[in-house]
Amino acid sequence: MRRSSDLSPEIAEEAAWWRDAVFYQVYVRSFADSNGDGVGDLDGIRSRLGYLELLGVDALWLTPFYRSPMADHGYDVADPRDVDPLFGDLAAFDRLVADAHEHNIRVTVDLVPNHSSDLHEWFQEALHAGPGSMERARYIFRDGRGFDGSQPPNNWVSVFGGPAWTRVPDGQWYLHLFAPEQPDLNWEHPEVRADLEQTLRFWLDRGVDGFRIDVAHGMAKPEGLPDMHIQAQAPGVLSDDAHDPRFDNDGVHEIHRMIRKVMDGYPGTMAVGEIWVKDDERFAAYVRPDELHLGFNFRLVEADFDADAVRSAIEHSLAAVALTGTPATWTLSNHDVVRHVTRYGGGTAGEQRARAMTLVELALPGVIYLYNGEELGLPNVELPDWALQDPTWERSGHTERGRDGCRVPIPWEGTTPPFGFSTAVNTWLPQPNEWDHLTAEAQLEDPGSMLSLYREALEHRKSHASFAGTELEWYGAPAGCFAFRRKGGGLICALNTSGASVPLPPGQVLLSSGPMDGDQLPPDTAVWLV
Ligand code: GLC
Repeated sequence: MRRSSDLSPEIAEEAAWWRDAVFYQVYVRSFADSNGDGVGDLDGIRSRLGYLELLGVDALWLTPFYRSPMADHGYDVADPRDVDPLFGDLAAFDRLVADAHEHNIRVTVDLVPNHSSDLHEWFQEALHAGPGSMERARYIFRDGRGFDGSQPPNNWVSVFGGPAWTRVPDGQWYLHLFAPEQPDLNWEHPEVRADLEQTLRFWLDRGVDGFRIDVAHGMAKPEGLPDMHIQAQAPGVLSDDAHDPRFDNDGVHEIHRMIRKVMDGYPGTMAVGEIWVKDDERFAAYVRPDELHLGFNFRLVEADFDADAVRSAIEHSLAAVALTGTPATWTLSNHDVVRHVTRYGGGTAGEQRARAMTLVELALPGVIYLYNGEELGLPNVELPDWALQDPTWERSGHTERGRDGCRVPIPWEGTTPPFGFSTAVNTWLPQPNEWDHLTAEAQLEDPGSMLSLYREALEHRKSHASFAGTELEWYGAPAGCFAFRRKGGGLICALNTSGASVPLPPGQVLLSSGPMDGDQLPPDTAVWLV
């Protein structure tokens, strides 16, 4: 089996390689399809490693490819230690890891510890074994409220809409913070812990370089499962309300310490947690020295294209990790949120703003998480009702369209769908015809394309001395603008979100997100100066 220590010497030398790495999130279903079934797979990813190397990323995060009935597209795991036939097999996984390492790209994989699939053998056993059984103790089964138990045990709602409890034929209820096909595991149960440890070792022994931990602020549940404040629930995929009893319970930290102990036995590996927790101090608790190596921070995702909002997101993200010694992480898009070209207004303005925000993000110290397709400037897609597959659509009674619009398969080449993604005409989500000018092929040789901007920016980030150091200082700037300087290396990044051009700070232009207006920085534009 390959370990990190088998990597080529250039990239193996630094144990904490992840501290300034650029990760690239591969939404496996949508990246590249090697066998013509319209769904992306592991050999498909392998066939595009040359592209990823050219783009300049250091590591991949693969979304779940484990055995799953796909009620939540793989986040409902029936066997965490096997590959779903839809995506390949263990041999295909080993080929991918070996080839990625040949390309000096590390591989990290998703872990889903909060819940399993309802078709996991444990849950099936629990259903058959009945109330009070050992089998039920691995999940969160309770009797209902009301004289006949016909009311759910508490008022919790599922993140995907509707109640977080489902009743089984013998009258008991089980908890699912997500879809009913994703029953929550009972983290008080020693077998649940032992099983995760086995899963960690299984993939570490196969050579993975780390994990992304799904719902890392979930797992632990509060004593007595008290009711939640329904009105306090934030919209979106996950709530980040500090008083939400469903998430961020103190017991979760012991689980992260267990995970860290295992990982410390595999030097050079790392874990990043999905942590939708807004309070800086509570967030910081997850990245203490004996817990996660990194925590996702979603403040940039949540900020509008507005200099003050972006600056505040940056300052909070840095403050949250300042006392912990861990680097900040930066994300503009992922498989759960509207793609940022669209969030910033769509069309030409959305693209220009996305270009500007890419330079802001890539100027920051710490860890970058790119989402597949953002380097092509893909917008969210307005899919027709018939195409929608995200459980949110059904669960919300067709009021929330869900996350499919950011998960449409990648356009690689050619002028009509499936744009080289697959040989099948019907891809799992349909691609818009207008994506002909957004293919990787169309953008590769065009110096003005989004792809070229990413390649150039990533190249500078990797090699230019001005990116040294971890601290920022902010300059005074006109309203609607900001400028910061990397204290160590001296790189200056200026952003203009106002409606008028503004004077540039002093320095030589290293890269700009769009044309300059003489010696002025135009609206919707960012620039790097040295
Ligand atoms: C995380 C994933 C999301 C998934 C959910 C349930 O939020 O990012 O895609 O639906 O967890 O596993």
